[in-house]
Amino acid sequence: MGHTVTLAGQGWCFEAEAPATVLEAAERAGIRLPSSCRNGTCRTCICLASSGTVHYKIEWPGLSADEKREGYILPCVAMADTDLTIESPAAGKLPAPRRTDV
Ligand code: FES
Repeated sequence: MGHTVTLAGQGWCFEAEAPATVLEAAERAGIRLPSSCRNGTCRTCICLASSGTVHYKIEWPGLSADEKREGYILPCVAMADTDLTIESPAAGKLPAPRRTDV
């Protein structure tokens, strides 16, 4: 079952369902979240989840115990367990696909 992810600052929402990560689900919905390595090590994508819980597709995502306790997540390797509210001020909309049939 999918979960609704809400970007608190922008008010945008998208559905995320494992095995898609939060980052992948955002991209499918046309939302660009900051990312680089996409494997849980570089921390480019780190953001605060002010509500909800996730689990990770890797054993040791690059977060400290304190960051996890404070609610920070790495969307590139996180899968939503519940509805989520995340803070990602640098999020943006992906360009709409170009039509090739005109
Ligand atoms: S993109 Fe590198 S940790 Fe998420």
